[in-house]
Amino acid sequence: MSPKSVGIDAMAFHGPECFIDMADLAVARGVEPAKYIKGLGQTAMAVPTPCEDTVSLAIAAGRKALDAFGIDPTQIGTLVVGTETGVDHSKPVATYVHEHLKLSSNCRSFETKHACLGGTAGLTAAVDWIASGRARGRKALVVAADIARYGLNTPGEPTQGAGAVAFVLSENPRLLEVDLDIYGDYTRQVMDFWRPLYSKYAFADGHYSINCYLDALAGSWSDAMGKPGAAAGMPIGNFDACFYHVPFVKMAQKAHHRHWEAELGRAVAKEDTGLMAKINASFEQRVGPWLRLNSEVGNIYTGSLFLALMDYLRQVDAAREGKAISLFAYGSGCGASMLLAKVAQGAAGFGTRLDPQADIDRRRRLDLAEYEAITRAGESVDGNDGPELDPSSWKLGAGVYYRGTRNHMRQYG
Ligand code: CAA
Repeated sequence: MSPKSVGIDAMAFHGPECFIDMADLAVARGVEPAKYIKGLGQTAMAVPTPCEDTVSLAIAAGRKALDAFGIDPTQIGTLVVGTETGVDHSKPVATYVHEHLKLSSNCRSFETKHACLGGTAGLTAAVDWIASGRARGRKALVVAADIARYGLNTPGEPTQGAGAVAFVLSENPRLLEVDLDIYGDYTRQVMDFWRPLYSKYAFADGHYSINCYLDALAGSWSDAMGKPGAAAGMPIGNFDACFYHVPFVKMAQKAHHRHWEAELGRAVAKEDTGLMAKINASFEQRVGPWLRLNSEVGNIYTGSLFLALMDYLRQVDAAREGKAISLFAYGSGCGASMLLAKVAQGAAGFGTRLDPQADIDRRRRLDLAEYEAITRAGESVDGNDGPELDPSSWKLGAGVYYRGTRNHMRQYG
């Protein structure tokens, strides 16, 4: 029999142990700090050392999610890692995560890729698996893990970051119930952001990519509006919070504006001061309060939407239980999904288990020279039979880290 309620039962974030302050980066690049801090909305950016790759971030986030919510690894029947920064053309990151978290050998596992949409593609596949009844009471673990790299001295440099958000999906979830009936999808072939097989760094047509994102939002919104019940369920006024993919915090503000335009059925110019005041107030109420984690971590590609959601869930109180929210995921190239969900009854009791703030506050602040040295070191660590990588040389704590490649096989320890 198909379950009535499916959604997120557990959640955790894990990010790199170092960061650079955006004001330091701005000064070094000869840019007004206000451009990065106010113009892009970023205060800091996570910087992964060469030992912290997509695999190590995904393992740590997955372990935190299972441990914090008391989930037995043998209950996991599906494992998906959504990433656009996988470590092998063939072998999925999921197999390393599967081994280190000691999941059942009868768990299916795979990797999903569609730029920043991969984690959401994993979520919807897992939700469908549970809703169809094929999970037979088992749960799915989805990890959205990425390292956003544009390179030193590029326009994309201030929109880098790294991290992983892991979430467990189940019947009768403790945190969030996903709406199984109202959702929208959108796909279009565009070259707004891409990373060829030979490059560690992404290529982006930055301003064009912003337009592609906003058009995809309108496209997936109108697909969702075609579903039965959407006219009553979709108005922004119904939502306690609206979440968007957050490559940089200011993007969520642009997205909320376009969301309103989709609902109003027309463009709203800055000169329309009455409507602008209404949209800005809506942003302050429904979007702005949940963007602090994104502003401190930076872009984590496929996990960015879920980092904003975690920021909300860590602050949920009893009055918010049962409230509706919207989620918009965008993957360059491009694909997008609009989803609706509802805060589960009892979710308010899990705020402290979810909260990653203490880990974020413990990160080590890098100066510019260290940040540049770490970035350059990261360019050559994937080659075969190089020197063994030592996590202590970057002052990393306990954990599973990438140690170099031997006989063409990545080593973790
Ligand atoms: N004080 C305050 N604000 C300032 C300022 C100052 N001194 N100087 C500039 N600003 C503002 C600008 O007005 C602008 O704000 P608005 O967009 O609201 O007008 C903002 O700061 C950024 O300024 P620019 O547009 O001039 O910045 P830029 O040309 O250097 O590039 C960028 C910005 C296009 C985002 C670039 O960083 C980039 O290419 N990033 C990578 C691509 C990207 O993130 N695309 C997002 C959509 S695609 C996607 O979402 C998928 C993904 O994850 C990559």
